[in-house]
Amino acid sequence: MIQKTEPAGSLAGTIQMPPDKSISHRAAMFAAISSEISIIDNYSSAADPQSTLSCLRQLGVSVQQTGNRVEIKGVGRDGFKKPDSPLNCGNSGTTMRLLAGIVSAAGIECEMVGDDSLSSRTMKRIIEPLKQMGASIDGRDHEFAPLKIGLNSGIKPIRYPLPIASAQLKSCVLLAGLFGEKPTEVVETVQSRDHTERLLNLKSEAYGSGKLIQSSRSDVIPAQSYAVPGDFSAAAFWLVASSINPESKLSLKHVGMNPSRTGAFHILEEMGANFEISNSTFAGKEPVADLTITSANLNPINLDPKLIPNCIDELPVLMVAMCFADGKSVISGAEELRHKETDRLSAMAEILTASGAEIELKKDGMVIYGDPQFTPRPARFKSHHDHRMAMAAAVLATRGSGLSEVEDAECTAISYPDFWTHLHQLIQS
Ligand code: S3P
Repeated sequence: MIQKTEPAGSLAGTIQMPPDKSISHRAAMFAAISSEISIIDNYSSAADPQSTLSCLRQLGVSVQQTGNRVEIKGVGRDGFKKPDSPLNCGNSGTTMRLLAGIVSAAGIECEMVGDDSLSSRTMKRIIEPLKQMGASIDGRDHEFAPLKIGLNSGIKPIRYPLPIASAQLKSCVLLAGLFGEKPTEVVETVQSRDHTERLLNLKSEAYGSGKLIQSSRSDVIPAQSYAVPGDFSAAAFWLVASSINPESKLSLKHVGMNPSRTGAFHILEEMGANFEISNSTFAGKEPVADLTITSANLNPINLDPKLIPNCIDELPVLMVAMCFADGKSVISGAEELRHKETDRLSAMAEILTASGAEIELKKDGMVIYGDPQFTPRPARFKSHHDHRMAMAAAVLATRGSGLSEVEDAECTAISYPDFWTHLHQLIQS
């Protein structure tokens, strides 16, 4: 589907953020490995978290969904059944990487498959530590889905210094660690999102300049009432859209404000964005708040590479913000973007260049020569079937000189099914 996106003039209104994708996945998986019934309120209806639910059903877990409320009857760590057909993870890297940690440690013979994008993303990063732990797992060319998972003769503990700052990798190893008699230890030197540790209450301690996190069979996984906050990564599109469009004011309700996720908030604040935080509270173990954002004159920024894992999913839309800052912004240390649903560095370079922005693409980042007067030229933007590319292009187009188009626009349903409705609701022109 091609979506037409008009210049906004300004944006105004109040919207409820879609439920957080990362937390939805985790709540469902953790509920499945507990031994009782858990209720998850505000579960995401987006395609990725729905892939997690369908994989759990295939593994014999009872999942009842009524609107955004999901009831899961946990089967315990040893209660999964061998699925009759391959577990289909769709487009979802989190489903494949986290669930592979669980099913390979549980020794469930199965195959895990995904769509073309997921099948081209490396799984070597999880295959290696899982093999070290004694799990039986391999992939096409020892690297890609389909993954083949088999029986094992017990999970051995490892001490694993994370070679990449990836929450999916960290979570995969910690979840496999839950099946070992002795603690598995993950050493994290650069903070990535901490939902797994937080929701499972895993032990962690300071270790050098980072953290050592532990998991083992003795960790109790209680049935919980989960309340999923609004997705900060979805909110980021509006933080930028409202900042770059004159006379705009947006209120976003119930946004997840976990400090390991809100790097983009602080980056935009440093760039001069105008934010107000209100109604700070907790949704279960996760902090949430309402945010109000008004237009701002943005300054350029030289991003600290250590912040990259904290804003990895928001970088594409931050690049859009940088196009309207008054001078040169630099992103480096962001090579991980090349391993997402598409190569997001190249895809964003293509989108920004098509709009007439002045940028230089680097191996691990981008230099963006911003201009507050920049007026993107109307273009047909390629999303490469990547939800975050489609939404970043749409935000860019709100400042355009005419009607733009976004290709494969339906891919926003991967994380934010109401994105286009919200955009059209908020545009004031
Ligand atoms: C996620 C972690 C990030 C992020 C992805 C969701 C998660 O991936 O990009 O959208 O839920 O753990 P990496 O951990 O591979 O960086």
